[in-house]
Amino acid sequence: MKMQAEDRLWELLNDIDDYLEGGFRRPHASPVRLPVSSAAAPSANSRGGSVETARGPSPAAAEVAAAGETEAGAPEAAELLDPAERKRRLSELAARVTACTHCKLHKTRRKAVPGMGVIDPLVMVIGEGPGADEDASGLPFVGRAGQYLDKWLEAIDLSRHKNAYIANIVKCRPPNNRDPEPAESEACFPYLMEQIALVRPKTILTVGRVASQILIGRFDSIGSLRGRVYQFSGIPLVPTYHPSGVLRNPGYRRPVWEDMKLLRSILTR
Ligand code: URA
Repeated sequence: MKMQAEDRLWELLNDIDDYLEGGFRRPHASPVRLPVSSAAAPSANSRGGSVETARGPSPAAAEVAAAGETEAGAPEAAELLDPAERKRRLSELAARVTACTHCKLHKTRRKAVPGMGVIDPLVMVIGEGPGADEDASGLPFVGRAGQYLDKWLEAIDLSRHKNAYIANIVKCRPPNNRDPEPAESEACFPYLMEQIALVRPKTILTVGRVASQILIGRFDSIGSLRGRVYQFSGIPLVPTYHPSGVLRNPGYRRPVWEDMKLLRSILTR
């Protein structure tokens, strides 16, 4: 059991390494140090059922392994894998996000929105970025769209208080709810990668075009991306419409419900 967890962490961190080797920009890079001992060899991807491989976008995830490291160097794998330690690192990450000035969004935010939920969740929901309600509260998806999202989750027995984690591509509100700019998504992406490694979700649900395109690495419409299962670093990923889009266009309700059933089918497999 413990080995499997180590293997998954290894996969995640090696994937991040691949991004860097692929020549992606490292906006605020520090050397990637894998906090897994050399004895833990990377495994073949163990999560079945995906039909497409999602590759992250352009981002630099260089800070992933840097989180919480001591002066003494890379931490022990066991420390990283211990739930209490992962929670501690998530709190540290939240503090770094709150103080972050890596892109211009920090100048206009009221509160940064790191994320919320439980560790080892059945699903990690990834949205685009905070809106006005989230900017005011510091919590993700708490406005009208967020309440609607909670209903979707509830329909398949998921809840941010029980078995889900919620985060965004960018942690600070883009002014007037515009799309995050590539430089903003890129600057913030290491935080998301670090969250995924610490939270260790069983599945990922991306809501909306922006998050889906970035995590799948394809810049097609959400209508053509959805309806399939991808993989992100060995984790099954289901893309769907953004709840605010569905509130505006009830015609998207049925496809969203199909996507939620798809997600449920992976969880019950
Ligand atoms: N929309 C998002 O994409 N994320 C939030 O947190 C709120 C609204």
